[in-house]
Amino acid sequence: MTAPLLEVRGVTRRFGGLIAVNDVTFDVHAGEIVGLIGPNGAGKTTLFNLLTGVYPPSSGDIRLEGEASGGLKPHKIARRGMTKTFQNVALFMESSVLDNVVTGGLLNNALPEARDKARQILDRVGLSAIADVRAGDLSFPERARVEVARALCTEPKLLLLDEVMAALTPAEMEEVIDLVRSLRDDGTTFIVVEHHMKAVMKLCERLLVLNFGELIADGTPTEISRNDRVIEAYLGANFAKKQASQPVETA
Ligand SMILES: Nc1ncnc2c1ncn2[C@@H]1O[C@H](COP(=O)(O)OP(=O)(O)OP(=O)(O)O)[C@@H](O)[C@H]1O
Ligand SMILES: [Mg+2]
Repeated sequence: MTAPLLEVRGVTRRFGGLIAVNDVTFDVHAGEIVGLIGPNGAGKTTLFNLLTGVYPPSSGDIRLEGEASGGLKPHKIARRGMTKTFQNVALFMESSVLDNVVTGGLLNNALPEARDKARQILDRVGLSAIADVRAGDLSFPERARVEVARALCTEPKLLLLDEVMAALTPAEMEEVIDLVRSLRDDGTTFIVVEHHMKAVMKLCERLLVLNFGELIADGTPTEISRNDRVIEAYLGANFAKKQASQPVETA
């Protein structure tokens, strides 16, 4: 196997007396779509914040393409190719879809090139027809796409999606799943936080499970859905029963 794209080794983050992320270790390889799941407050968003430089880790080591990235500023990490969307969509609501996506392109480009790049990406994710619409006037599925488009405009190798499917209907989730798959086929690697288990299990080939900041499992959706610790901490006995009568569909 090739060297991992992302290496996370013993990463811990404390907020005062609270250990939000506790000694977490895992790798992500190029081309993977990895799901990160766990109960509310488990540390998923905090882990994304550590990976992307919003907060430095209290201890531990993060490497992107073999080079230490832990503790660097977000724009430096984004330039190296790791970026994230924001939980509870943080678009500029008064600006157009195009201008929102252009902000991502400004990381690596001057304005004219950023605009060209943004237009290409809007085309790629199927948003060209609404490029001039005000972000505040968009539906939830359109906002999710714009969030992904803005992050893509930074040209990430590894893109972290934080609950972009929240508030979507099952049919709309299917569309996002298809989009993420096709972007992966074009070369982007993903870590995806979602609470909607059916969507996560369908989209991801591997799942990481956090509980009270600790990584309690790392495996395929089928392995995770049968893991006793995960069932107890997060999925619940009903989920396990349903899965037993209806095998999990994986990619
Ligand atoms: N800046 C901060 N200061 C203090 N505590 C924080 C901070 N950010 C997160 N926490 C705490 O860290 C823990 C993990 O929170 P986090 O937001 O990472 O959870 P999560 O897994 O993303 O949850 P959810 O599924 O609800 O989004 C929580 O107890 C939270 O209150
Ligand atoms: Mg969160």
